[in-house]
Amino acid sequence: MQKKGTGGISILAIESSCDETSASVCVDGRILSNLIASQKIHEQYGGVVPELASRAHMQNIVPVVDGAIQKAGHALQAIDAIAFTRSPGLIGSLLVGSQFAKSLALSLNIPLIAVHHMQAHVLSNLIDDPKPSFPFLCLTVSGGHTQIVLCKSPLQMEVIGETIDDAAGEAFDKSAKLLGLPYPGGPLIDLYAKDGDPRRFSFPEPQIPALNFSFSGVKTAILYFLQNAGKSYVFKETFSATEAERKAFIDDNLADICASIQARIVSILLNKLKKAAITTGVKNICLAGGVSANSGLRKAFKETGEKQQWNTFIPAFEYCTDNAAMIAITGYYKYLAKDFAELSVTANARAEW
Ligand code: KG4
Ligand code: ZN
Repeated sequence: MQKKGTGGISILAIESSCDETSASVCVDGRILSNLIASQKIHEQYGGVVPELASRAHMQNIVPVVDGAIQKAGHALQAIDAIAFTRSPGLIGSLLVGSQFAKSLALSLNIPLIAVHHMQAHVLSNLIDDPKPSFPFLCLTVSGGHTQIVLCKSPLQMEVIGETIDDAAGEAFDKSAKLLGLPYPGGPLIDLYAKDGDPRRFSFPEPQIPALNFSFSGVKTAILYFLQNAGKSYVFKETFSATEAERKAFIDDNLADICASIQARIVSILLNKLKKAAITTGVKNICLAGGVSANSGLRKAFKETGEKQQWNTFIPAFEYCTDNAAMIAITGYYKYLAKDFAELSVTANARAEW
């Protein structure tokens, strides 16, 4: 297959791993468009409903891809390769994007590039300037994953720490649900926390070996804390508060509760990141994933970076949550390495790197 474009390597990328349908065009690693269609339908169910996500992807994919190509001012015939998210994610959602990408690559007779969603989150740090130099560490925090990745070159990465149970985004969303907030609750906790005192309530920090994380204990502590209307986060056979008292406690203290929950999640993340930086001796440190939109995490990350003399990097907001630009940039590096996929490649909900 010949390279088709005349002005550099053009990649069209498709992301459909969860509940955002996104398409992006990049030329020589420069993002020309990044369109994202978010699926509002899940809000009423308190979480992503896989079957509804697949159907919404099917409705969105043609207009989103079309929009991304038009916004880039790029002819479809000038695209050199199609990159798509192969794994991990919801299998039905992944299938919509992968089948679409395969059909397009076949009809245009151009290479297909399979991308791992979590590698792409890490490489979202290579989209804008200033870019981190190698090696760098990346704390990737999303709704489904929490990882510390040692990145030695664009395609050489190693997971050196990860959660043994819930992801950081899940901890935010589940805590928000306990507070009666709608899905996804992470951004709402962030919003209420801005007016709260993070030292008002204290939740336990889990002692997990090595560079791994755990968030399920924090979530359980918050559950008991609310059931006891703030008097204790220890389990009791009968909780000391009535339903009405719990509700009143939450209403009266929402900002302080949110600020305290956020502070604990952030401290769990940053304490392990500090340990990872010391263990590896790496000073270029990045954030990635949807939770890196959290203002408490961004502020604490920068402050920690100054104290520890790190060079810190956080992608632009539109590249933190799920997006196809990060798939495009990963696709670009895979194109340079001639790392192409066969048309027989299958979407995979849980593939290793
Ligand atoms: O990376 P992402 O968009 O999708 C996944 O691959 O999971 O991350 C979504 C997660 C959700 O859990 C959402 O609540 C969380 O990121 N999130 C936030 C904020 N914005 C998004 N969590 C806390 N504060 C925020 N501002
Ligand atoms: Zn993601």
